[in-house]
Amino acid sequence: MTFEDKPGSPNILGGGKKKRILSGMRPTGKMHLGNYYGALYNWLRLQEEYECHYFVADWHAITTEYENPRDIAGYIPEMVMDWLSVGLDPGKSTIFVQSAIPEHAELYLIFGMFTPVPWLERNPTYKDQIQELAHKDLATYGFLGYPVLQAADILMYKAHGVPVGVDQVPHVEMTREIARRFNNLYRPLFPEPEALLTEIPKLTGTDGRKMSKSYNNCIYLSDPPEVMAQKVRQMITDTQRPFKKDPGEPDRCLAFPFHRLNLPRERLEEITAECRRANLGCVDCKKLLAEALLENLAPVQERRRYYEAHPDEVKEVLLQGNRKAREEAQRTMAEVREVIGFNQKIQLVK
Ligand code: TRP
Repeated sequence: MTFEDKPGSPNILGGGKKKRILSGMRPTGKMHLGNYYGALYNWLRLQEEYECHYFVADWHAITTEYENPRDIAGYIPEMVMDWLSVGLDPGKSTIFVQSAIPEHAELYLIFGMFTPVPWLERNPTYKDQIQELAHKDLATYGFLGYPVLQAADILMYKAHGVPVGVDQVPHVEMTREIARRFNNLYRPLFPEPEALLTEIPKLTGTDGRKMSKSYNNCIYLSDPPEVMAQKVRQMITDTQRPFKKDPGEPDRCLAFPFHRLNLPRERLEEITAECRRANLGCVDCKKLLAEALLENLAPVQERRRYYEAHPDEVKEVLLQGNRKAREEAQRTMAEVREVIGFNQKIQLVK
């Protein structure tokens, strides 16, 4: 499921030196199955082959949470604890927090000087979000400029590949345009990154809507086994199969995408046939799912318990990651300042 397995996906393997991957997530707290299968799973695979940077986009979170920015910081350790529990490895990947690297703000400011406002106004993700979050006033400068900050995140580390979901592709596109514009205006400095499209499985929450924290319908990686089993029992299956004696259709079943991610292929084929033949009822079928899910997540949950008992280790991971990221960011900013003639020599501060 990584980009290089898929025909037609960009081959960023070429070129000798180990290529760089960068991605970020806004801090939302505990990770749910949607976050896991939709993003983290891919991040994990990428760290085996590439030089990866994964970070917490806490400044980005203020764009929509500016009324309660104080809540954001508390979500960071919760989220990072889950990243580590699923297997993100600080020995392989640089894991850091955006706001610990103030250079991102400086690069964002400079990019903002030459990014045309119409590029931002045309951004389809911006238009969608404004509609979706109509209850919030998002007619702000910061929300419009969201992709400019994202471009600074990506270009700061000269990333080649950015694993994201389809909604973020316009932002990576804009990052390429910003890189191109910088390179043309001043001097070539930034590579143009590729979006590595993550195939996001259609996972619905317990109420049948998209799994999302704001709908309160999530199955969290850290849910205790009884809670997880209970939530699986509540999942909506094939609504056109009122009785067990009626044949079911896995393609209509909202639990089936979870089966697909958790059961081995032969088992999957078996239950598909049994469901269609009305031999396997939804209650039993979901029991199988709960067992498979709990088994698959057992090691993740065990690691999470470890980190819960050792929060200082999570903090240490971030301290180390921030230090490493900051060194790289300082190198890039020294180049940027040099290119635009704002280097040390002309600074008038002692
Ligand atoms: N906008 C991304 C999201 O909401 C998060 C993000 C911020 C990001 N900066 C990034 C993702 C840089 C990839 C690269 O999902």
